[in-house]
Amino acid sequence: MVATNRTVVFVLMIAFFGVSLGAVHKVGDSTGWTSLGNIDYLKWASAKTFYVGDSLFFEYNPQFHNVMQVTHNDYQSCNGTSVVASYTTGC
Ligand SMILES: *[C@@H]1O[C@H](CO)[C@@H](O)[C@H](O)[C@H]1NC(C)=O
Repeated sequence: MVATNRTVVFVLMIAFFGVSLGAVHKVGDSTGWTSLGNIDYLKWASAKTFYVGDSLFFEYNPQFHNVMQVTHNDYQSCNGTSVVASYTTGC
């Protein structure tokens, strides 16, 4: 799982506050998160409706890819020097 600690916190929130579980969106669908599949992730995302509480599931080969969470400003300026979170396990 991506972000085990976050998952635990999220599950605890559900247990204590009755928060309903959102949808899980697998990024890239069956292709997953890769630069090899020739997938247009903007197109993938634009075809979906995301709601607060939904989760994104990234499945990727950790030999070649990772997932870095950055701030909006860092995303806009393509600056990955100070990531919010980094995921490298592959799923
Ligand atoms: C990237 O972000 C870091 C931390 O916020 C900052 O110190 C650095 O100047 C930024 N680099 C560029 C090229 O904007």
